[in-house]
Amino acid sequence: SGPLRTHAASRGKFIGTALATGPLSNETSYRNIASTEFNQVTAENAMKWESTQPSQGQFTFSGADAIVNFATQNNQQVHGHTLVWHSQTPGWVQSLSATAMRTAMQTHISTVVGRYADNPAVVSWDVVNEVFDDNGNMRSSFWYNTLGESFIADAFRAARAADSNARLCINDYNVEGINSKSTAMYNLVSRLRGQGVPIDCVGFQGHLAIQYGFPNDLQQNMERFAALGVQVRVTELDVRMQMPRSSSKDTTQATYYRNVVNACMAVTACAGVTIWGFTDRYSWVPDTFSGEGAALIYDENYQRKPSYTAVHDAL
Ligand code: XIL
Repeated sequence: SGPLRTHAASRGKFIGTALATGPLSNETSYRNIASTEFNQVTAENAMKWESTQPSQGQFTFSGADAIVNFATQNNQQVHGHTLVWHSQTPGWVQSLSATAMRTAMQTHISTVVGRYADNPAVVSWDVVNEVFDDNGNMRSSFWYNTLGESFIADAFRAARAADSNARLCINDYNVEGINSKSTAMYNLVSRLRGQGVPIDCVGFQGHLAIQYGFPNDLQQNMERFAALGVQVRVTELDVRMQMPRSSSKDTTQATYYRNVVNACMAVTACAGVTIWGFTDRYSWVPDTFSGEGAALIYDENYQRKPSYTAVHDAL
């Protein structure tokens, strides 16, 4: 009994959720569960570039501030997501020259991170997101194609300059297990830290699907990153299934959730687990993966699923 956050806190970890600004503004059930069950939050979209600087020099923080204010009221930590990404970034950024793009990146980071640098709720940032492709090569994004790999080190240095205390993360998907992509990430983090680049955290998104199997070397993978001296965390956990739901799929899903939380609990350097939302009423999965859904720990009517119990029991 007792909410998830009480159990997580007693073990020195966070249990988090992504928050969407729409239901946060107008749904009591959504607000009640978000505030009661979680001690950490990430903006699902509100801190992305397209939300915070839709046109050059025009910064808008209404959504970001709504989430930071909610977290402050509810004694929750905020993880900033995300500063430099190839997606949800306006066209005006993508068409800049190299010199102008580098300057725009630095201005964006200093303004967004700087806004919250003195805010005690905002403790960490995804500085770069999804810089690899699935083979472990650098993703062919406008960032990489315009600036080369140096945009990564520059982004971390700009973030550190804007907030000397924030924990600065690199974040990606399909890096939960040991594979060519996570090994590329491991090598990059090792190399950059060797060069004094201020990167102190690695985020494993954790967008899992029951039909693709569980990454059984998740804990081992966390441990090799921890040995580099970085914190690790699961940043966007969800476990989708092919619809329709069934009790046997729910049971498998619960096992995946349990395994992820157990892995984090077993690794001292793992700070916590953030679930990418909490209710199937609001999840990116059905919009993104055709025919799939039911990926979260509450159903669309805010009823707890077996995956809720699994997370609760593992905390
Ligand atoms: C997703 C959001 O959940 C959606 O609402 C939005 O339309 C697209 O982005 N990896 C990330 C997240 O780092 O920012 C993405 O969030 C999911 C994949």
